[in-house]
Amino acid sequence: MAALGGRGRAAAALLRRGPGTAAGPGAAPRRHRHKEKWASTAPRIASTRLALHHFDTSYSLRLGALWPSVRAGLLCEQKYGALLNNFAAADHVPQELEPLNAADFVSEASQKAQQWQRGAAVGAVARGCQEGSGEGRTVMQAEMMAQAEMMAQAEMSPPLGASISSKIKCYTFPRGDITRFRPARPDSLGLLDYYLMDAASLLPVLALNVQPGDFVLDLCAAPGGKTLALLQTGFCGHLAANDISISRTKRLYQILHSYVPREVRDTVSVTSYDGRDWDQVKGGTFHKGAGAGSVLLQVLVDVPCTTDRHSATEEDNNIFHKRRTKERQMLPMLQLQLLMAGILAAKPGAEVVYSTCSLSPLQNECVVERALDIAEAQFNISIHVEDLSHFRTLFQETFSFFSDCRLGELVLPHLTANFGPMYFCKLRRM
Ligand SMILES: C[S@@+](CC[C@H](N)C(=O)[O-])C[C@H]1O[C@@H](n2cnc3c(N)ncnc32)[C@H](O)[C@@H]1O
Repeated sequence: MAALGGRGRAAAALLRRGPGTAAGPGAAPRRHRHKEKWASTAPRIASTRLALHHFDTSYSLRLGALWPSVRAGLLCEQKYGALLNNFAAADHVPQELEPLNAADFVSEASQKAQQWQRGAAVGAVARGCQEGSGEGRTVMQAEMMAQAEMMAQAEMSPPLGASISSKIKCYTFPRGDITRFRPARPDSLGLLDYYLMDAASLLPVLALNVQPGDFVLDLCAAPGGKTLALLQTGFCGHLAANDISISRTKRLYQILHSYVPREVRDTVSVTSYDGRDWDQVKGGTFHKGAGAGSVLLQVLVDVPCTTDRHSATEEDNNIFHKRRTKERQMLPMLQLQLLMAGILAAKPGAEVVYSTCSLSPLQNECVVERALDIAEAQFNISIHVEDLSHFRTLFQETFSFFSDCRLGELVLPHLTANFGPMYFCKLRRM
């Protein structure tokens, strides 16, 4: 208030008094007046309402005619997937879920990919034979041509089969079926049989495509759903799970204890650094370990974001609360810094997957685009954005995808498949 001019002071005084308390000849005696603190008595707009207003303005422009359906999805109960715990005795789970029409969408996609590849190979053989006979080539030449073409096909489409880790199994109910899963149960050693999560959260993990022995960094790991999924691949040589929040890392420890046996937990290091400083605090150690053999440091950067579904439905811990306006406005900057830290942590050839659970292009594509520019201009690092469009085809029965992302892929909530939002983009450091 000290900085206000005369007019400002008068207006502030009016605001403090309120219209019914103007001092004047008929005003109440001083002792009967009660002081109004206008900031605390002004009607507080619910954070969920602020969030929805914000989404209506920005997402209707972005999604056009799709927005009403996405909005309805955001406001209705979300669907879950049951990530099977490979470390527990969980053979009973498929027997229990399959009669209820639940299916493992990862294995289904993997089978689909294999069928396509077989189809492509058969097509290649057929074409090779036609060309061979047309030009009077020998059978041997025709066979060699067909083989070469098959190999070229396989090279063109390695992401199809290869990127779908068949070890990850996640059950979902079919489109339009909103049956709920029972809570997870412990086996005889106390390990829980499955982990309930938004099934779309698995897509960034599948996109990362961890290979046997890889060093993996999960830069913003808590509460740990994706960390657990990364471990289910059985491929992590070492997994560094970091999260700045100590209270949330406690939850991550709980998940590791409830799902993962000790010998596998020993391959995981949990830290609570500011991920933006990863290179300074941990980079050296990691490069030493990761540089020894052919192992790569793969990085998952699952950043804090406006968590659109939560913001539209829950008052508690809502980032659209007036008090958190600055924090919300600074999110894209924090996301960019975290993504840059992930890129700098990755060795050449390694992959970085960036993900959010927001529909906002400012937090999604714009952050990735800016990171590509900075990596090139300031660090001389060139980055290839990997094409993940085959995810749309492979997983179209389970998720609703947005078909218009400039970079990366986006799962849209929809009443018949109410997962997401989930944005993910895969980068390869060259
Ligand atoms: C979207 S959540 C991660 C969810 C997690 N990957 C999972 O699948 O369960 C984002 C996380 O980023 C963490 N975070 C926020 N700022 C961070 C920073 N500067 N460094 C590291 N982690 C940060 C938050 O504490 C939060 O747990």
